[in-house]
Amino acid sequence: MADTTCREELQSIISIDRVSTWLEKHFRRSVSVIKLKYEDPPVETADYVLSDIVAVNVTVENEGAEVNLIVKLLPNDPFSRYFVTEAQFDLREIKFYNEVVPDLLQFQKENNSVIDLPIPQCFYSEYNVEGSELESVLVLENLKHRGFRSISFATGLTLMQCQVALEAISRVHALSLVMKYKHNLNLDEKYPFLFKTPKATDSYQQLVERGLPQLAAFLEDKPDLENILSSLQELRRRTKDTIAELLRPQDPLGLITHTDFWCNNLLFNEDSTQCMILDWQMISYSRATNDIALLLVSSLPSELRREHTQALLNHYWQYLTHYSASLGLSIEEKLKYDRNQLGVDFRKSLLLALLLCIGSVDVALGSPDTEQRLVDVLQDLYDQGVLSGTSE
Ligand SMILES: Nc1ncnc2c1ncn2[C@@H]1O[C@H](COP(=O)(O)OP(=O)(O)O)[C@@H](O)[C@H]1O
Ligand SMILES: [Mg+2]
Repeated sequence: MADTTCREELQSIISIDRVSTWLEKHFRRSVSVIKLKYEDPPVETADYVLSDIVAVNVTVENEGAEVNLIVKLLPNDPFSRYFVTEAQFDLREIKFYNEVVPDLLQFQKENNSVIDLPIPQCFYSEYNVEGSELESVLVLENLKHRGFRSISFATGLTLMQCQVALEAISRVHALSLVMKYKHNLNLDEKYPFLFKTPKATDSYQQLVERGLPQLAAFLEDKPDLENILSSLQELRRRTKDTIAELLRPQDPLGLITHTDFWCNNLLFNEDSTQCMILDWQMISYSRATNDIALLLVSSLPSELRREHTQALLNHYWQYLTHYSASLGLSIEEKLKYDRNQLGVDFRKSLLLALLLCIGSVDVALGSPDTEQRLVDVLQDLYDQGVLSGTSE
């Protein structure tokens, strides 16, 4: 996250001239920017490491309301910057807004569908801006000004927020799935920038290798968790294969997944009846249950996860099948895939979700609530045989 000096530097880069150019391209007319106001801090949470964020409120001549923008830039910190550019996280998100979203919207229109995409509007983007100090830039509407807020990772999601988030992602899943079948597309070929298994596997493994020693040190103080620790050490040997296997899309339900679907990448309106999904840097052609499992494992308090997992899967399934049917595809009849199969795939996805949590274990360590949530997940997955991979 940017410190104050960095932030001032960033703000000076985002000049009136630059913002005017962005808005002119977006509105396709000349735009006279009168004033810029930077929000400080740009966002409430400090948990972002894979980008630098600037929030700027733009006053435009002859325009009634301010235009409120979020500008997402490469992280300043050299390690994070290398990690992002090496694995093309920035490119992937920019391409999501420029290629995937227009295709999904076009498909939605062709089908007279009312399935909205739960994402912010994109005003401007540029990848590797040549001769500029920016390199990559993504300019989005600031959803805070439409009443959307993040929730605290330590508190986790309420049951209702989890339902609303699953309904939101089911729209992206359904649109991409039905578009794939109706237009007979190979999504990996059509969108070559999607997180490909070999690249994704490397990135994930780097994260797991970094997180596992931290987790091991944390577990060592807890003698009753010894079995879990040795299962994790065993899992380490299989990390790469496990990730590669689980990230592969599995027909018939291979579709576009968010793949970093946890509560810090979500915003909710005030009464939590609507959810917006941010941070599409890991978008993949993968399996639907990867998104569901990560959300439940990372962001749902243990009591809710233990009590409501099956009901939440039902909830997701109901929306996925409903939206797909409204676009003309019956998943059960045409694809021969049912709720039971979803449960089987979900179980497999739990392991991938756990590896991702281990990869970013530092967000959980240090706070009693999130440490306990992590221990509960480890304990439950161990008890269910998911950690050892002993039962199907
Ligand atoms: N369009 C937006 N509107 C409002 N807040 C946003 C928007 N985009 C990002 N944010 C805030 O910035 C944080 C970091 O953004 P995100 O895209 O997740 O970046 P990172 O890749 O660094 O995690 C989000 O958790 C959210 O609080
Ligand atoms: Mg994020």
